[in-house]
Amino acid sequence: MTVRTLHLLGSPVLRQQSPPVARVDDAVRRLVDDLFETMRAAKGVGLAANQVGVAQRVAVVDIGDEDPPALALINPVILDRGDELETAEEGCLSIPEIFGDVERPSHIVLEALDRDGKKFRVEARGYKARAIQHEIDHLDGILFLDHLSAVKRSLLLAKWKKSRKGQTGYLKEVTPEPAGEL
Ligand code: NI
Repeated sequence: MTVRTLHLLGSPVLRQQSPPVARVDDAVRRLVDDLFETMRAAKGVGLAANQVGVAQRVAVVDIGDEDPPALALINPVILDRGDELETAEEGCLSIPEIFGDVERPSHIVLEALDRDGKKFRVEARGYKARAIQHEIDHLDGILFLDHLSAVKRSLLLAKWKKSRKGQTGYLKEVTPEPAGEL
């Protein structure tokens, strides 16, 4: 498994609509494994393929719960969204240090292919439902900033630009933290 390079806000691939995977083969499985590895190294709870520069409908989510376990989502489709909305703070590995409150349905039903190419259906609530929706947004070229009011968005974009001052390009190497001292 390989920790891949993250694409940050400004990289065009983040604004692309990612096409579905035609066949779950070894290359797709490797991508799934690398997404998990990269997400964990970056201490995220989800990661979409275009965040590592691959425009394919593949994402992973692991909010650290056991049931259901970490999800590999290949060609995910949201079948149903509950009526109830919930607002909570979100961040994104592609927009480090920037956070905003996003309103989303608190309950979803989702269908996707797993790492073996087998179709499965899962119901998710709360934080997990939020993480899944955030990742599927990525696959459609949407970022959490797009859900905010224009005022809030431009505020956060200004903050982002300030934090990027002096830096060029839109790639970020993920450096896993060294093993913690006991
Ligand atoms: Ni994100």
